[in-house]
Amino acid sequence: MTQAIDKSRVLIFDTTLRDGEQSPGATMTHEEKLEIAEMLDDMGVDIIEAGFPIASEGDFNAVSEIAKRSKNAVICGLARANFKDIDRSFEAIKHAAQPRIHTFIGTSELHRAIPNLTMDEMAEKIHETVTHARNLTDNVQWSPMDATRTEWDYLCRVIEIAIKAGATTINIPDTVGYTAPMESADLIKRLIATVPGADDVIFATHCHNDLGMATANSLAAVAGGARQIECTINGLGERAGNTALEEVVMALKTRHDIMPWHTNVDTTKIMNISRRVAAVSGFAVQFNKAIVGKNAFAHESGIHQDGMLKNRENFEIMRPEDVGLAGTSLPLGKHSGRAALRDKLEHLGFELGDNQLKDVFVRFKDLADRKKEVFDDDILALMRVGTDPEKARLKLVTLRVVCGTGGPADATLVMDIDGEEKTAIEKGDGPVDAAFRAIRKLHPNTAHLELYQVNAVTQGTDAQATVSVRLEEDGNIATGESADTDTVVASAKAYIHALNRLLVRRGKTGEDEKEISYKDI
Ligand code: KIV
Ligand code: ZN
Repeated sequence: MTQAIDKSRVLIFDTTLRDGEQSPGATMTHEEKLEIAEMLDDMGVDIIEAGFPIASEGDFNAVSEIAKRSKNAVICGLARANFKDIDRSFEAIKHAAQPRIHTFIGTSELHRAIPNLTMDEMAEKIHETVTHARNLTDNVQWSPMDATRTEWDYLCRVIEIAIKAGATTINIPDTVGYTAPMESADLIKRLIATVPGADDVIFATHCHNDLGMATANSLAAVAGGARQIECTINGLGERAGNTALEEVVMALKTRHDIMPWHTNVDTTKIMNISRRVAAVSGFAVQFNKAIVGKNAFAHESGIHQDGMLKNRENFEIMRPEDVGLAGTSLPLGKHSGRAALRDKLEHLGFELGDNQLKDVFVRFKDLADRKKEVFDDDILALMRVGTDPEKARLKLVTLRVVCGTGGPADATLVMDIDGEEKTAIEKGDGPVDAAFRAIRKLHPNTAHLELYQVNAVTQGTDAQATVSVRLEEDGNIATGESADTDTVVASAKAYIHALNRLLVRRGKTGEDEKEISYKDI
């Protein structure tokens, strides 16, 4: 099929819900996936890779629901190179207004050894599986996984086979983040010039950030002729992550003078989705992360502030408003009412329903009682922590810790477990250790603490602390977050949040969840 390709347009393919969610610890709930998909669709992302339907019942249901609810975006489901995966993927996406099957196989010498196929056997499999996918839908994407380490002649050969079998998008993954910008541009350029039929399909670039070059490699691929960038919000993804959507989109917008391609993304929605993805994935954004980091538009040094006051262009190449960052506004306090909170939330990019607002207002009041001024960052921390306590099986009721120099800390903890209040008194090496021991006493578990991180949200001794806790249990990883003016309470809540997520994860495993292996093609 020959498709009309607008050469000035770069399609944005977001894989936060597939490659992003696949990264250890980033598991999202069904509702969270639907919410992120809706936000992606609203912001103008062209293609949403909603998941890997064969992986589990949960993945299938999420992709299927996202497909049904989709408005403008193409909804894509991933499948390995076998009929069962492809059928399952199609089953999940078929209700989308615009469905796409994305099927892939590792083509480099190393990856060919995984299913133990010869070059010819693999070529035949690619022909069969792409043909099968194309018989189900006319929108088929094919990826030679580890393309950047695949022998040149073989790469050309298999791409030609996929195009002839009906693939409409050819994605070139840099699966292990190995390539460099010059090479990335050159590879796409040479493929388009060499492979018969290449002009009739869209070439995509899918980069990982192992060497910190994912954004540069993606943009170089576009310069080489790619017209689809695969990326994730905040660069979420396995290992060092994927190309960050916000970086490529803002780079194309800001440096249109040297990169004359445009996307359909409404950049003013970037901050909001970035915060939401950070909250639901449990992967906080580093402060100095390009575009969406807390400090990305902050100017602290005297020289910079002076320069900014004279002319913001002295130190700013993008306007904060363009990524959805509102200018600083007045803090709220304990006398602020619901209308002021709603106003502030809207200013920060959150549109809440009445019930959600009610829940946030209760937590805001609780905070304002303990903190003189509630700043924008405090409100953002409240939003980050989430608003779903009713469904949680474990809830913190009260915590008192006595600690000081020269002795262990004593924690008295009351927890609601499946609707029943239970109390534990434990000693520990410091207040956090005592609180965690008390939680473990009431909810015995073998989860291993992988990460415990505390950050102050604002300045001052009454500042809220946000705490992240990452747990690992039998290969399942879950991250919990919380914020409170009391660091120990925030720590206990974050630990309980992670345990609740592990419980959800445990419920998902069992028969339903399959260990995804690339051997099973
Ligand atoms: O990185 C990769 O190769 C992938 C493929 C499944 C496209 O994510
Ligand atoms: Zn990937």
